[in-house]
Amino acid sequence: MKGIVFTEFLELVEQKFGLEVVDDIIEKSNLPSQGVYTSIGTYDFSEMLSLLTHLSESTKISIDDLLLVYAEHFFAVLATSYPGLIEQYNDPIEMLASIENHIHVEVIKIYPDAELPTFEILERTENSLIMIYKSSRAMHYFGLGLMNKTFEHFNSSAEIIMKKLKEDGTQVKFIITKN
Ligand code: HEM
Repeated sequence: MKGIVFTEFLELVEQKFGLEVVDDIIEKSNLPSQGVYTSIGTYDFSEMLSLLTHLSESTKISIDDLLLVYAEHFFAVLATSYPGLIEQYNDPIEMLASIENHIHVEVIKIYPDAELPTFEILERTENSLIMIYKSSRAMHYFGLGLMNKTFEHFNSSAEIIMKKLKEDGTQVKFIITKN
């Protein structure tokens, strides 16, 4: 997992819960990196899982909810860091349908070792999109947060239903309908 995901995560934790909580979860997580991340580095996903688990224990907020809120913050980071990628789109459905064959393809060019999910499109109309998220990291709530913000970015909104195809969240169907 890319360092930018860790640095921005710890930044948000500090903003919302304070530096003491950042120090506390780093200490409890016993991290190989010791919690020292650079945005272009690459670190084991298990470090993120450890940090999330301890943050969830200390705040009593579920990991899914933490990932959702974090993704909403991360969208702003992506939009600021890679404005060119988003500016090519003028519609949220069009943008979401292009994650797999355009956006994340560009991401791999920037970070060849990025660990990305796959999105398989099952059905697409002007105002709806059904796709299957697949990733061993089971970050579907992170996907949901990014999708919410994608609609907001285009001053739009949608109903997004997630249906787990695998209990562990490694395969999830997203049914997206623009309001
Ligand atoms: C400009 C737009 C975007 C950029 C630059 C971008 C870039 C990235 C980067 C750098 C990561 C981390 C990879 C790693 O840690 O190795 C990531 C992960 C991810 N991205 Fe994107 N992304 C964009 C848009 C989106 C959107 C709109 C979605 C909507 C669903 C999405 C879904 C995800 C998910 C779910 C992950 C977590 C990894 C996983 O589930 O396996 N991305 N993306």
